[in-house]
Amino acid sequence: MIDLHSHILAGIDDGARTLEESIALAKQASEQGVTHMVCTPHIHPGTFDNTLTTIEKSFVATVNAVHQHDIPLKLSYACEVRLGIEVPEKITSNALPFLGHFQGKRVLLLELPHSHIPVGVDSLVRWLTKRDIQVVIPHPERNRDVLAHYEKAIWLKRLGVMFQATAGAFSGTFSESVKQCVWQMLEDKLISYVASDMHNLHKRPNEMKAAFDCISKDKGEVVANTLLHTVPAQITENTQWR
Ligand SMILES: [Fe+2]
Repeated sequence: MIDLHSHILAGIDDGARTLEESIALAKQASEQGVTHMVCTPHIHPGTFDNTLTTIEKSFVATVNAVHQHDIPLKLSYACEVRLGIEVPEKITSNALPFLGHFQGKRVLLLELPHSHIPVGVDSLVRWLTKRDIQVVIPHPERNRDVLAHYEKAIWLKRLGVMFQATAGAFSGTFSESVKQCVWQMLEDKLISYVASDMHNLHKRPNEMKAAFDCISKDKGEVVANTLLHTVPAQITENTQWR
């Protein structure tokens, strides 16, 4: 499986705190059947002030540590950027690493706050679309506006965004309402792919295998394979794995 969302880079966001934790997370992901993983640390001004430099530095240290421990996991990096007024400037100054490509467009992982869908998201999505950037919104099933007003997810989808569901949501790691929401979104073909969004071993481990198994059971192995392998592979077709 190919995991396009993870926080295993040490010390630069709310994921792994040390290289030892990075190694433990990489090992656990590999045990889940993940062969390739994109590290996507937060870029969230005022909270996680990451830049290409901080990400690259932590990435190099993590890759070296993972290889030294013979963990069969290929890595690359991008970011999970928080929606905000600074996004256009960061795009025009090439300050954001992209997740990959989809249908000729660069793919940006754009995080909304969990509490709501902010006013202006449609303008930003249109601005990005005009610049041939495909927006992926992670974990829509955990957004409180989507949970309360499901039609808002349909509205976002019609704007042209892709949705990435969280692996753990399918088996109920978050809550019953999140679980119901993600299965409904899958039923309605709103989900483009599934990723772990792993942060730590105790509360937010990699749950790609559990997601693969329960989606296979309910929707068939072809659907599970599309969501956890084929689409992520398409997006990272030109990625240089390390
Ligand atoms: Fe994340």
